[in-house]
Amino acid sequence: MKRTALYPGTFDPITFGHMDVIRRAADLFDRVIVTIAVNPDKHTLFTLSERRKQIARAVQDIPRVEVAECGGLLVDFALKHNAVAIIRGVRAVSDFDYEFQMALTNRKLAETITTVFLMPHERYAYLNSSIVREVARLGGRVDCFVPDFVASALKKKFSGKKS
Ligand code: COA
Repeated sequence: MKRTALYPGTFDPITFGHMDVIRRAADLFDRVIVTIAVNPDKHTLFTLSERRKQIARAVQDIPRVEVAECGGLLVDFALKHNAVAIIRGVRAVSDFDYEFQMALTNRKLAETITTVFLMPHERYAYLNSSIVREVARLGGRVDCFVPDFVASALKKKFSGKKS
């Protein structure tokens, strides 16, 4: 039986930290679906279509990885795709409370799906998408955090908007 895992998130934008987690997940599972969670209440810098394209390009060399989007409950999406696991990256202790709450809620909703926590490389332990957006907004270099095409897209988004 093929073992499928979902890797959900907002990916606004995808970073080297996310890509590190995706590589680790792809080593463990037969199929990894990077799942963009669509939350209409969360304002994002990049549109859904932009994020989908960025992720597809970022993972194109990682075997067995697909990209999809989910607008409803994650566990419903997981069941529909016969996923056995939800991957979450944990970077610091501060991630724990929220992750613990989500993992237990998801288990209550669908007990066949197990949340698997993976640690990204310590070089990405401090990274998140907000920090990357903030540095880019203020004109800093972000090519050490994100693929070059994402860095260019960030530059374009913020060009002329520096204050
Ligand atoms: N490297 C770098 N950054 C990382 C990272 C990694 N390995 N892992 C997470 N992050 C960052 C993200 O970039 C994001 O940064 P930001 O907040 O600065 O933009 C932050 O950590 C949060 O991660 P993310 O996974 O994008 O958002 P989230 O924690 O809000 O995601 C969902 C939560 C989408 C998985 C959750 O809301 C969900 O499952 N939604 C679907 C609906 C549902 O089923 N809800 C019930 C869940 S119990």
